[in-house]
Amino acid sequence: MRIAMIGTGYVGLVSGACFSEFGTEVMCVDRDATKIARLQRGEIPIYEPGLDQLVDKNVGAGRLSFTTDLAAAVAGAGAVFIAVGTPSRRGDGHADLSYVYGAAEEVAKALTGYACIVTKSTVPVGTGRQVAAIVGNTRPDLLLGRDFDVASNPEFLREGSAIEDFMRPDRVVIGTETDHAAEVLRALYRPLYINETPIVSTNLETAELIKYAANAFLATKITFINEMADLCERVGADVKQVARGIGLDGRIGPKFLHAGPGYGGSCFPKDTLALVRTAAEAGAPVRIVETTVEVNDRRKLAMAERVVDFLDGDLHGKTIGVLGLTFKPNTDDMRDAPALAIIPKLQAAGASVRAFDPEGMDEAKKLLDGLTWCADAYEVARGADALVLVTEWNVFRNLHLNRLKSLMAAPVLIDLRNVYEPASVEAAGFRYLGVGRGRPAAAPQAPAAAAAIAVSGAAHT
Ligand SMILES: NC(=O)c1ccc[n+]([C@@H]2O[C@H](COP(=O)([O-])OP(=O)(O)OC[C@H]3O[C@@H](n4cnc5c(N)ncnc54)[C@H](O)[C@@H]3O)[C@@H](O)[C@H]2O)c1
Repeated sequence: MRIAMIGTGYVGLVSGACFSEFGTEVMCVDRDATKIARLQRGEIPIYEPGLDQLVDKNVGAGRLSFTTDLAAAVAGAGAVFIAVGTPSRRGDGHADLSYVYGAAEEVAKALTGYACIVTKSTVPVGTGRQVAAIVGNTRPDLLLGRDFDVASNPEFLREGSAIEDFMRPDRVVIGTETDHAAEVLRALYRPLYINETPIVSTNLETAELIKYAANAFLATKITFINEMADLCERVGADVKQVARGIGLDGRIGPKFLHAGPGYGGSCFPKDTLALVRTAAEAGAPVRIVETTVEVNDRRKLAMAERVVDFLDGDLHGKTIGVLGLTFKPNTDDMRDAPALAIIPKLQAAGASVRAFDPEGMDEAKKLLDGLTWCADAYEVARGADALVLVTEWNVFRNLHLNRLKSLMAAPVLIDLRNVYEPASVEAAGFRYLGVGRGRPAAAPQAPAAAAAIAVSGAAHT
């Protein structure tokens, strides 16, 4: 069976390449002619570890190709995946489904025989049925269940480890309405059976909701530990140890318990918001997720305030060096990155900002103004009154502290990812501020006095 992948972004390109690696013939379609031209020349338009070799290998084997011609890709395909973007709709936070519905209409016009139309984009409950309606309206000659099916197959890959996530997923979710559609998808994912990957077979609505529920749960977990971090600073506790202490409990698990500047990226912010809207409209508000969204939005700005406070409340005439800009390491994706909220606030407070990111600079330059762009962490440090570590790229994990100190105007490290241990950075002569790394007051105090010392101490730990 040949498949068509509509949308060749982070998800479409990785999924298409991985399906071709499984031995399926895949045509990846995008309406962005520049992107397709680059892919046809063998250039990968995004940064994703290992993707260049995978694409190269499968193009070479004749199983993977790229085109702007949607009709040519859909004609004769047994399955057509829709992997276009579903950003937040301006103003109300709903998922903008115009790309999905637009693609569905184009696919309908191009169908030449039976195909299972599979939504891989993250879409609100009800979208699959709407896709079926669009196909039916566009092509009244086609009968649902006979000439085409619709299915939901949400994607759970993470940028930065996308290939491994696709090849060895925790589970594959398949929402279908007919046996035929279920069989098409099972056949495509059969190569995963060797790893005994669980396949969760559901109806359309359930599959659509699983994706939002998963992202909302993970976003809530991150937000929970971030609030614990704030509490740790107040009471002299260390959030890294709290996270370890709770994460070893098998019911909780250690992942997504790293305190930091708040979640960002192309999924969590828009998906939590879309779930909030869907739930409110369905008359079943998700109050925990509503609060998560609110707390996380506030947190990104609070990170900039934390920098200002640590530098004695005034950034005028000061230079801040920012290490890392992307929303997480190993991607060039800047969508909703905390840096986009933090840096303008530092600039508004009077700071000059110098910055470096290993892969995200091209994208960041389109979104941020007035920065000095640097070639590495040491260039960022030159003349800086403080370094702020925003994204925990590996190259920032073992910086030469003495060298940084010799380059900086003042040795200050504000580590929003808790990459460094406070004691070792301070031993190198830095003032250090992590996230949630509270320290107990030196001597036993009366409760009120102890709390006051922990608060002021937090500002200097
Ligand atoms: N990025 C992730 O890590 C991730 C993970 C899981 C799920 N998702 C979901 O997958 C979907 C895609 O995300 P992404 O990050 O790959 O988006 P993206 O913006 O990187 O890529 C979308 C692509 O679709 C193309 N496109 C739009 N309409 C088209 C049309 N009619 N025909 C052909 N091409 C068209 C765009 O040009 C773009 O290249 C979203 O719903 C997202 O929520 C993303």
